[in-house]
Amino acid sequence: MSELPEYIEKIKAHLIENDFPEEIEAAVILGSGLGDFSTTIDEPFSIPYNQIPNFPHSSVEGHAGELFTGLVGGKKIIAFSGRFHHYEGYPLSKTVLPVRLAKAFNAKKLIVSNAAGAINTSFKVGDLMVIDDIFRGLYKVSPVASQKFSYNLRPVADRVREIAASIGLEVQRGTYLFAKGPSYETKAEIRAFRTMGVDVVGMSTAPELIEASRLNLPAAAISLVTNMAAGVLKQKLDHAEVKAAAETRKEDFARLVNALIGEL
Ligand code: HPA
Repeated sequence: MSELPEYIEKIKAHLIENDFPEEIEAAVILGSGLGDFSTTIDEPFSIPYNQIPNFPHSSVEGHAGELFTGLVGGKKIIAFSGRFHHYEGYPLSKTVLPVRLAKAFNAKKLIVSNAAGAINTSFKVGDLMVIDDIFRGLYKVSPVASQKFSYNLRPVADRVREIAASIGLEVQRGTYLFAKGPSYETKAEIRAFRTMGVDVVGMSTAPELIEASRLNLPAAAISLVTNMAAGVLKQKLDHAEVKAAAETRKEDFARLVNALIGEL
């Protein structure tokens, strides 16, 4: 695979024609319910995904489907409010489009976020966790997911926790498992994942980190625990709790991302 497919250059050219900058410092991918970060961007400007040629549309509730640009701490950024999940039917090569576009804009860093279910029972709903390794599950089959993952996220995780502490935030760290979805996991799967050393489970992020590693784009990834994973508590899982948990931490999350753009 050449470094970036041609359609990425076309999207970039279209965005620049529509007042996006030619280069950016950082790109942010916003997870379910975390789109509120975009309200903290200075001089914001955005384009809905459905007005960008060659751009897939995001169909999940809680994902606005809008690409933002503007300044954070004086630095030019782009932020993807709404992502493309494999479970919506996108091939993994499309789910990593934001990472490729970040690279095309010469981003120096990528910050990925997601909603996740906690498998580690010492975590609680509302916790923020920095990802220090990924578990690719069974999805090493696609050319994207089968790429060698050469990033060591541990030093990045240490740095993220230091930066978080400097603004008074406690952040957990742990391993993220990529589950294909769209249905939640079974209780047996969650028990098995726990014995395998997994801390949280979600339906995104791992392919994006693998692609960032391929493209040599430094990346950090943050999970927001929106629920305890299947079988941890005696209650049914549903998407409403994802939004509710994100609502309670959206300000802290935005503060953390702001600090990471400045200092990571
Ligand atoms: N499982 C998978 N993905 C998720 C979950 C979960 O429990 N919570 C939020 N995203």
